[in-house]
Parts: sequence; C-alpha cells; structure tokens
Amino acid sequence: MEYQAKELFAKHGVPGTPGIVATTPAEARAAAEQLGVCVVKAQVKAGGRGKAGGVKLAKTPDEAEEHATAILGMRIKGLTVNRVLLAPAASIEEEYYFSFLLDRSKRRYLCIASVEGGVEIEEVAKTNPDAVKQIAIDPGTGVDEAKAREIVAEAAFPEALVEQAVTTVLALWQVFVAEDATLVEVNPLARLAGDRLEALDGKVSLDENAEFRHEDHAAFVITDETDPLELKAKEKGLNYVKLDGSVGIIGNGAGLVMSTLDVVAYAGEKHGGVKPANFLDIGGGASAEVMAAGLDVILHDAQVKAVFVNVFGGITSCDAVANGIVGALDILGEEATKPLVVRLDGNNVEEGRRILSARNHPLVTLVETMDGAADKAAELANA
Ligand SMILES: Nc1ncnc2c1ncn2[C@@H]1O[C@H](COP(=O)(O)OP(=O)(O)OP(=O)(O)O)[C@@H](O)[C@H]1O
Ligand SMILES: [Mg+2]
Repeated sequence: MEYQAKELFAKHGVPGTPGIVATTPAEARAAAEQLGVCVVKAQVKAGGRGKAGGVKLAKTPDEAEEHATAILGMRIKGLTVNRVLLAPAASIEEEYYFSFLLDRSKRRYLCIASVEGGVEIEEVAKTNPDAVKQIAIDPGTGVDEAKAREIVAEAAFPEALVEQAVTTVLALWQVFVAEDATLVEVNPLARLAGDRLEALDGKVSLDENAEFRHEDHAAFVITDETDPLELKAKEKGLNYVKLDGSVGIIGNGAGLVMSTLDVVAYAGEKHGGVKPANFLDIGGGASAEVMAAGLDVILHDAQVKAVFVNVFGGITSCDAVANGIVGALDILGEEATKPLVVRLDGNNVEEGRRILSARNHPLVTLVETMDGAADKAAELANA
C-alpha cells in the first residue's frame, strides 16, 4: 500500500513525506490537526483511487473528518477501504511517472519514465506512447550514477530538476534492489513549488521468494485484508489460492494442479457450470499431516460442495498418499463432511488404490482417470 511504500522510500532516502495513517474519522481529524491542509487518500492495493473519489483535499480538520467518513468503507475495484493516509497537501506544478520493474520476457529490469505522469498515465501510454520512455537495465550492472543520468536525460526531466532527479532515481533503485522488489512505482513524482521533486504516491511489490532475508517485511502483511482461508493455509505452509467455485482441489505439483483446475472447469460445464474452489498444491511429500492440513482448509470453505484429490505418485508413492488420505480423514473425524473424489496414478498405484478400497470410507469415491474424476467431482458438487 502507498503508506508502506512511503516507509520504504523514507528508509532509502527517496524525497517525500510519509504522512499519517487513520482507520477512523476521528483519527483522521487528529492527524489533520497535526498536518494542516492535507489530502485524505484511500489505502487499497489498486490503482485509480483518485478517479474513484478516494483522494480528497481537506483544508480543515472538519473536512478531513468528513472525507475520511466518506472514503473509509468505500469500495474501490472490489476492495474495501479500511485505512486512509493523510499527507500534507503539496503545491504541484508538474507530475511525472517513474518505475522500475522486472521485465520477465526480456530477462532484465526495465525503467519506465514519463514527464507526462499523473492519473492519466495509462491514457498517455495509449495516445502518445512516445512520451513514455522505456529504458532497459542490465541486471549485471544495475543503475549507477551514469545510468541514472542516462535515464533522467532520456525521460527529459526539466533542467532545474536534473540533479534531484538523479539522486531520486538512485534512491528508488536502492529500494528496488535492497528490498528485493519486483516493482517500484511513483506516480506522481511531482515537481513542487520551488523546484522540489517529491514522491507523492508509491507502489512497491516485494518478491516473496526473498522473504527469508527480509524479516522486517512480515510487518507489511495486512492480515485483516487477506482471505481468512488463505491466511490459515499460509500458517500451515500450504500453497493455496482461494477461487470462487464449489469443487475443492488438492493435487501435487503446480502443473498438475493447474491442469486439474482446467479439467474441472471443463467438466463443470455439463454440471450446472460448477467451477474449482481453489488452487492447492501439497507438493512432493504428501504425508497424512499435509493432506489433513489441506483438507482442513478446503473443507472449511463454505463454498466447497465436493473435493477432488488428484495425485500423481512419484518420489512419494501412491500407497503413501493413500495412507495420507486415510490418516487425514481419521485426523479430521467428524469435521470431514463433504464427498471426496480421489484419482491416484503413478508409482505404486495398485497398492494405493487397494488401501483406499480396503478402508471403504463412505465419503470417498475412487475414480481411475483424471477426466472421469473431474466429472464425478463436478457432478457431486452440483448435486
Ligand atoms: N500530497 C498531495 N498533495 C496534493 N495533491 C496530491 C497529493 N497526493 C496526491 N495528489 C493528487 O492526487 C492525484 C492522485 O493521487 P495518487 O497518485 O496518490 O492516487 P491515484 O493515482 O489515484 O492512485 P494510484 O496511483 O494508486 O492509481 C495525484 O496525481 C495528485 O494530483
Ligand atoms: Mg498515483
């Protein structure tokens, strides 16, 4: 969120004012009393807040309280606003756009900069693409002072701002590298009265793969805005994404799970349009505990009507997985209430199927093929 991005900006010397976060109109008033004339800004992880009415100027504490009352609880792009940021009102002369990001297709970093920034940047990119400069960055050398000067010249920052722009570009590059970000974006980077350059907005995406070396990033996780099932899955170390359908999915291997979502969506067309309820990859070692943890999350999803367990036995053989499923059902006991369609294949599949058949659990249906199992799960979810 903007206020968090601005914390990282401050840490690395990007010019700007962090402001004060408020979660109630009364807090907003108190903040405005401290700041004077300020802007009240919706904090959601989406762009276009200004256009949606989520950024408002407040000349007095009364107005700040009024705007906060209107903005808190507002929905912007499907997200509820639970926080506002109060930032001192700046007297803006020009607005620029600036970002560093990962260009996956070209396997390098990219800087995008435009002196025609502001809330219409998407429009500018469409109608006047030449005004939006793209500067490739070699990941081996990164951005040193010479590169920063090249960027500033290419983007055509006004003469009076060149030195500040170079410093700011270097500071933003520090945010990008030192924090392991995949995106650092400032829109607007504003020219204020007196030729001062300041970041009035900020957006940073952090690379979760680098979480282990940034303990302090844990503080940025906003738990009240995360889906509770996703939160629970995360606590259990599961690779889970909540979706909108009614067929719960458990599989091993991201590729297999992605394919499973496809076949279930396809099979669902014949069964009232049911769709997958989630992505869940339990990975290689499908032990009883991991299977139980996965089932625990999925069975507590009120939208789920049936579950499809799709496992290809590899290093973890099918008999181990079958024992995992049986063990999981024992662990869950009464809490397991929804039908399970299980498809096993691969290493030691006969023994796996034998274990499940022998257990003869009333909720479990064994189906041999992936398409057949998807069809059965969709049918049960639609029943
Ligand atoms: N501190 C400020 N003082 C004066 N005006 C501001 C301030 N912050 C933002 N604005 C004005 O409001 C506009 C929108 O603000 P901001 O860029 O933060 O939101 P947004 O662009 O709608 O959100 P996003 O960048 O997430 O799409 C800015 O382009 C700027 O003109
Ligand atoms: Mg913006």
